[in-house]
Amino acid sequence: MKLKIGRNDPCWCGSGKKYKACHWDFDARIALIRAQHHKVPNHKMIKNPEQIEKIRESCRINIAILDYFDEHIHEGMTTAEIDRTVYDITTRMGGIPAPLHYEGYPYSVCTSVNDQVCHGFPSENVILKSGDIVNIDCSTILNGYFSDSSRMYCIGEVSPEKKRLVQVTKECVELGLKEVKPWGFLGDMGQAVNDHARANGYSVVREIGGHGVGLEFHEDPWVGYVTKRGTDMLMVPGMIFTIEPMINMGRADVCTHEDNDWEIFTDDGRPSAQWEIMVLVTEDGHEVLCW
Ligand code: MF3
Ligand code: CO
Repeated sequence: MKLKIGRNDPCWCGSGKKYKACHWDFDARIALIRAQHHKVPNHKMIKNPEQIEKIRESCRINIAILDYFDEHIHEGMTTAEIDRTVYDITTRMGGIPAPLHYEGYPYSVCTSVNDQVCHGFPSENVILKSGDIVNIDCSTILNGYFSDSSRMYCIGEVSPEKKRLVQVTKECVELGLKEVKPWGFLGDMGQAVNDHARANGYSVVREIGGHGVGLEFHEDPWVGYVTKRGTDMLMVPGMIFTIEPMINMGRADVCTHEDNDWEIFTDDGRPSAQWEIMVLVTEDGHEVLCW
């Protein structure tokens, strides 16, 4: 049975204030929007300032790792070496790599090269060579709080076509981010991502999306990029989710590695790019927590 909180009871958010002086109006506003048949967030998706601060601390490790590779990734490096480095930096900073043993995932990080869409397994056999584009997708647990973000890295001399894919994918995230504000809809962001990808002749992967994050690795909502403006879940202050579109140079279809059921590739073998940021919806817009 769900007990209703009284106006004078402590607010569900943990602020210690009375409900009527805290999230009462906020909940009433959400209820009105729900009545208009929109998907709306539940209380678990709304983080309080203490939680947000803990999540920020986790993000610092994630950012430090991606910054490290901005400086140090090079031709001849294996993706297994990237995996070891991620493990070392994370644990040295007091964290745990979130992917390790996550639903059986066997490594500390995902490294997805060229036609690999996401969840690439680091390997001694994958030696980065000039012309490769690689996504390093890093996720961290610190004191029980989660962070998750990824960047693209260009190795040596990358063709103009692949460089443009990497650049446009980044722009997709930036344009999507501009749409993140309270009382808007996730579809506003999704459509911005999709429109920009398609205007550039690219396609957007449909099957894999972003997600809520912070108290768990993958929380609700699921965040897609084939949604339309004014649809999908309502965004409200305190929500944290990732924007992590996978943009393909060719067709949108993807396939999964037969042996491990993790690694995702483009069906047509053409390159794919992805950037991932973690964003907090604030009272007047958004804050990027991790990128
Ligand atoms: N950013 C990726 C995601 O949310 C991280 C995947 S790690 C894995 O799917 F362990 F799930 F592979
Ligand atoms: Co993610």
